[in-house]
Amino acid sequence: MQRTATPRHYLMVKPTYFDVEYAINPWMDPTVPTFAKVALEQWTRLHDLYLELGHRVDVLEPLPGLPDMVFAANGAMVVNGKVLVARFLHPQRQPESAAFHGWFRDRGFREIRQARWTNEGEGDCLVSGDRILAGSGFRTSTEAHAEIGDFFGLPAITLTLTDPHYYHLDTALAVLDNHTIMYNPDAFAAESRKLLAELYPDAITASPTDAAAFGLNAVSDGRHVVLPQAAAGLIAELRRRGFIPIGVDLSELQKAGGGPKCCTLELRGTEPPRQDGGAPRQDGGAPR
Ligand code: ARG
Repeated sequence: MQRTATPRHYLMVKPTYFDVEYAINPWMDPTVPTFAKVALEQWTRLHDLYLELGHRVDVLEPLPGLPDMVFAANGAMVVNGKVLVARFLHPQRQPESAAFHGWFRDRGFREIRQARWTNEGEGDCLVSGDRILAGSGFRTSTEAHAEIGDFFGLPAITLTLTDPHYYHLDTALAVLDNHTIMYNPDAFAAESRKLLAELYPDAITASPTDAAAFGLNAVSDGRHVVLPQAAAGLIAELRRRGFIPIGVDLSELQKAGGGPKCCTLELRGTEPPRQDGGAPRQDGGAPR
């Protein structure tokens, strides 16, 4: 089956101040050293890969003292040019919200709101066709799911995460196209597992080994799927299903419990990708 790629618009944050200074998920161990230079090299390869694939990438300047800010997916959710800025659970990450808010405001996005309930952006909420898959259990609250659904006018389907290693939905599930997902069934409560099996009978399920390699923290444009290179089983299965998997090494960022998807916030409903750094056109295309 021939898969179709659609050009995307991403926002990324450079890992200038990346480090593991605290532990807010089981992967983080502040006694393990990190290497800033390696983190930046790995991140730059991911950034450049998106450009090679024809996507537009904007970069938000990081702030000192916010070592997790590289995980841009958590900063907001953007659909149809509307921006719902995150409200982080942990105080260590809470100041990131203002930086994201400011970035969107300065780029001319007009409908921007900070979430009222705890909401870690695309870390927990993934657009799948005309619905939003919304994770809960560790970070984003279930109250936030209703708020997200109302704000974007799309149904939000609550999925409950149960394994602290898969604390954000994007560590346990990836949207590959409007109809296809891959996920780690072991990361979900029984009723969520049942729901996923009903909604996505053709889904790819990940082995525990591939899930632990962060294989589900993947970014798809409908054809190319960027994922950690260690997720060998998923890479083979994606290829079998007609996708083009592209393995990347983000081992430094994985020390903080993050992978390619965590570093990538998709800006949906802005104008098609271009590389001139111009501001995105908003919903409806009215002049700003
Ligand atoms: N250390 C970060 C945290 O625990 C990692 C965030 C990863 N981001 C993601 N979208 N899963 O908050």
